[in-house]
Amino acid sequence: MQRILVVDDAELNRNLLQHILEDDYTVDLAENGEQALRILEENRQETAALLLDLRMPKMDGFAVIMQMREKGWIQRIPVLIISGECAVETENRCFELGVSDFIRKPFVSSTVKNRLKNTIELFDCKNRLEMKVEEQEETLKKQDEIIRIQAEKLKEAKSFHRLMLEYQSAIMEVETRLKSLNAEFSQEYNRNPFESIKSRLKTPESIYEKLERKGYPATVENIREQLMDVAGVRVICSFPDDIYRLAELFTGQDDITVLRVKDYIRNPKPNGYRSLHLILSVPIFLSGGKKKMNVEMQFRTIAMDFWASVEHKLKYKKDVEDAEEIVGQLKICADSIETLDYRMQEIRNRIDNRDAAPATEKNMLQEPPSG
Ligand code: GTP
Ligand code: MG
Repeated sequence: MQRILVVDDAELNRNLLQHILEDDYTVDLAENGEQALRILEENRQETAALLLDLRMPKMDGFAVIMQMREKGWIQRIPVLIISGECAVETENRCFELGVSDFIRKPFVSSTVKNRLKNTIELFDCKNRLEMKVEEQEETLKKQDEIIRIQAEKLKEAKSFHRLMLEYQSAIMEVETRLKSLNAEFSQEYNRNPFESIKSRLKTPESIYEKLERKGYPATVENIREQLMDVAGVRVICSFPDDIYRLAELFTGQDDITVLRVKDYIRNPKPNGYRSLHLILSVPIFLSGGKKKMNVEMQFRTIAMDFWASVEHKLKYKKDVEDAEEIVGQLKICADSIETLDYRMQEIRNRIDNRDAAPATEKNMLQEPPSG
């Protein structure tokens, strides 16, 4: 049976409440605040609720509440105030201090029982939820620690360093080819097919986390075979048609193989994300000869890159207020950016006296045949 503590200086009230509750609970009784705290000190774990009078000699109800707050008990044990008429200010003050409910005198047996039962159930739910969250946080912390340790191990392995060097070479290879195209365009046509390049090598932590998520042991072979985005090159273009032109020129090079195409420009993600993603197999040339490496390339416009960097923050930040509303706003911005990108492209075409660029419609990059 659950334990209830009834604290009231009037014997009549104590007896009445005991009589109402004794069939359902083990009822502890206290005449004043001091006694109540002493009992709580002993039976705190089992006590399911406190029925507390406010006006009492020695130590009054408010003093008990303050003590319970100080000791952090009020979060776990619900307090219901037993009162007759009570000023609104007093009532508000009680709620501010963490009191759960009021039970009015004269006591109506069914009301006392129902209020108490509801409050206990609510608190129980809340406590269990909080415990779950705590447990989950603990699990997450442990997982983070495992990831950290495994990533450290990876870092120590010589073969891992060798593989990272190969991915770094692949990044350099891609960057060089892009820069060559840029130099040619700028000399021959007085324009640049892209604005900037951002490259990154996946961190050991992120590599380990992704393998773990996909269910593969952290081995150098699995990194090579199962992860497509260890080497990442992001190409930021001014206009949408530059993206497709450049991607075609680049993938048209005869030693580059397209392994996968995800065209989020033609098929934007529900959140509004627009980029062209290619997984390529790129040759590198080291002392041992030629080797093919997987590289993830992302092509996007300047405006979309700006959008993605803001949106990315939302993904990694917990407890963002109005997150749902922000998602909606981001979607609206993404759609505006698309309109803006194509308008700017049109203006550029008019200035350059060019026909509307057909690249986006005609020479679409196709998904390579699977298998
Ligand atoms: P990951 O496991 O996250 O790499 O995704 P994936 O393997 O399914 O590939 P996808 O081509 O969908 O995404 C690859 C990368 O593109 C991601 O790691 C992000 O850097 C970027 N990306 C994809 N979707 C979004 C998005 O909705 N918002 C932002 N900001 N970036 C995205
Ligand atoms: Mg990725």
